[in-house]
Amino acid sequence: MTVLTRRRLLKTAAVAGVGGVGLAAMARLGGWAAAAPEPVVLKTAKIQAKFMDVGETRDVLTYGEGGMPPVLRMKKGEPFAARLVNAIDDPTTIHWHGIRVPNKMDGVPFLVQPYVYTGDHFDYAFTPPDAGTFWYHPHCNTLEQMGHGLTGVIVVENPNDPKFDAEAVVNLRDWRLGDDAQFIQQFRPRDAAKTGTYGTVRTANWLDQPQFDAPAGGLVRLRVAITDVTRIYAFRVEGAEAAVIALDGNPVPQRFSPDALLLGPGQRIDLAIRMPDQEGAIVNLGDVRGTKPKTLATLRSTGSSLKRDLHDLAPLEANPVAEVDLTSARHIALSLSATAENVPSDSICGSLGYSFWAINKVPWPGDTPDPTAPLAELKLGKSYVIDMENLTPQSHPIHLHGMSFKVLSSSTRQVQPVISDTYLIQPNEKVQLGFVADNPGDWLLHCHIIEHQKSGMTSYIRVV
Ligand code: C2O
Ligand code: CU
Repeated sequence: MTVLTRRRLLKTAAVAGVGGVGLAAMARLGGWAAAAPEPVVLKTAKIQAKFMDVGETRDVLTYGEGGMPPVLRMKKGEPFAARLVNAIDDPTTIHWHGIRVPNKMDGVPFLVQPYVYTGDHFDYAFTPPDAGTFWYHPHCNTLEQMGHGLTGVIVVENPNDPKFDAEAVVNLRDWRLGDDAQFIQQFRPRDAAKTGTYGTVRTANWLDQPQFDAPAGGLVRLRVAITDVTRIYAFRVEGAEAAVIALDGNPVPQRFSPDALLLGPGQRIDLAIRMPDQEGAIVNLGDVRGTKPKTLATLRSTGSSLKRDLHDLAPLEANPVAEVDLTSARHIALSLSATAENVPSDSICGSLGYSFWAINKVPWPGDTPDPTAPLAELKLGKSYVIDMENLTPQSHPIHLHGMSFKVLSSSTRQVQPVISDTYLIQPNEKVQLGFVADNPGDWLLHCHIIEHQKSGMTSYIRVV
């Protein structure tokens, strides 16, 4: 693909997709500029970090000075600004996963913004409409950049949230390292064609099983984000009473205890945990998927008991997501399948050079579907239901940019009507996801197992 084609795509997208509404969005941005907050500087950096006893790992990527990318704090309904400064020798962008931002701020190269080249910067500004746990990551050469470290958690605070005695944020991810602690090849084609290639070293906040202190008998809000490129988790809490209070940033209609709750890359879980009364007692957050359960992080009771009660915890305020109108909703069929058609797809933003997957039988070329038309064109303000069907033997965390959907029904299980941006669809499952197309622009819809995303399972919808 030539640079010319890329430019043309950007132009086309601007004219056809977001040109008209760009004005409105810009006017709004202009308005915010008056009260513009000091931008958070997110500078990409190549560092060394220690994940294995044998020594430091080179070529680790992060935002900031060193260590894990910072947890970004925003406030619901208040302007946020960040300047991405690119100091690594690879073009990049930032996508604010799950936050309903204006299209121009969505961080998808060529579809909505140009690459941010080495030495350049890009200013992001938006007002998060929803409170909850979100995350940020590049949308360029993502297997490499995210695989090497560029994934951070976002907390959007709501002053009306119930009061907790402590809060902990956990960023879950793996690293593909060899015995010498250095990066090895990020993926194997035969795995990319199945579940994706797993990392070899597992971490939480770039550590092995970090421990957080929390007041005995107190209520802890544990915000957990799966920012790994491949791994699906089955969460369980042991040693304390725990309830899932939010999924993917949004409060759950009914709280439940996380008993091997399956969540995939891109998803988040907010847990309310009632610490044991006894000082020194340990609470364990584990992944029980597969044969060997793994402790991800622990909490330790400190001090004398606060004697709080999990049931006293007030509900979280719902986010202002428009209610889908099922009587008028148009249905969009979406089937996920494997493909035998091996188009050597030269994608815009980093290609793996393989096509293993397809959406509606089309193996899409990587991040942005260059000359390909959108999967569907939606009318601004109208209701839609995505009828999604998984014809593959693997699970796929399917993520929609720009809008949140409501999980309406599944062919294989009881589902709560949760609001989300990522749905982990199981093999042979059919699911209905309803939403109002209230955010104009071109929005990606893709599997968040990055090898799947990069080998056919990425598409986009257009809202005009
Ligand atoms: Cu986490 Cu295209 O997104
Ligand atoms: Cu997938």
